[in-house]
Amino acid sequence: MSSDDAFATFKEGQRQGWKHFAPLEMMTTPVAARLVKFAGVRAGHALLDVGCGTGVVAITAARNGAQVHGLDLTPELLDRARENARIANVKLDLREGDVEALPFDDGAFDVVLSQFGHMFAPRPDVALAEMLRVLKPGGTIAFATWPPELLIGSTFALVGKYMPPPPPGVSPPPQWGDVGVVRERLGTRVKDIVFDRACMLVPALSVQNYRDYLERTAGPMLKVVESLTTSDPARLAQFRAEYDALVPPYFEDNLVRQDYLFTRAAKV
Ligand SMILES: C[S@@+](CC[C@H](N)C(=O)[O-])C[C@H]1O[C@@H](n2cnc3c(N)ncnc32)[C@H](O)[C@@H]1O
Repeated sequence: MSSDDAFATFKEGQRQGWKHFAPLEMMTTPVAARLVKFAGVRAGHALLDVGCGTGVVAITAARNGAQVHGLDLTPELLDRARENARIANVKLDLREGDVEALPFDDGAFDVVLSQFGHMFAPRPDVALAEMLRVLKPGGTIAFATWPPELLIGSTFALVGKYMPPPPPGVSPPPQWGDVGVVRERLGTRVKDIVFDRACMLVPALSVQNYRDYLERTAGPMLKVVESLTTSDPARLAQFRAEYDALVPPYFEDNLVRQDYLFTRAAKV
């Protein structure tokens, strides 16, 4: 298989994996408000939300008066985003597409955002080059990502142990949550880099309830369960046991703590 075909197959897997994500919008909605504020979104800004999912960032920015475009790989989530925009009574331009090949002109946007979105593109250099290409000089790029050493980053590492390896050249998503890596990737193409951290609190009745919820909604977890349920139930049981041992340090008062990183920079 050529590497182009391998990346296309990988993205098809992503598209299938994320299609049940909609219920998790309740968790990402508060983050969206913080990201929009962190990025300094103002009325009149031309804004792109990359990996927009059900539109939580896009709609929040549009409510602040921005002219918003949202792009995502997964049509099921875009349908939900259209419905959310209709209910919120805001106008969005929503497109199915890939952050590695953005269908927009150079310098089209004042602000390019991604909330737990572009980090899932297989090639960080390609995704970032595209996000910066469509941004005006002086414009703001800002994103939320999961640090590798915390709960969601560790979850990706665990999932990786139980799934076939991705094609060569695919970077682990949580590298985008490492400030050193982010600085290096942004390099000299940006200035005024600012990092911040915040916490998403997910209500859960137990560690097992939390896992059950993610197994039905979160792409990577869903794929492990799908692949092992019939092929290797014993291995699935082992995965679940390992996962249940990972969560307790983050679980208190019926809330699971999912800390994330914010990055903001201005294009040179
Ligand atoms: C964790 S969800 C986040 C959705 C939304 N931003 C939010 O915060 O609720 C990840 C999203 O990234 C999208 N995605 C993954 N790979 C992508 C790619 N290569 N190009 C565009 N979107 C992608 C998925 O379809 C999914 O909607």
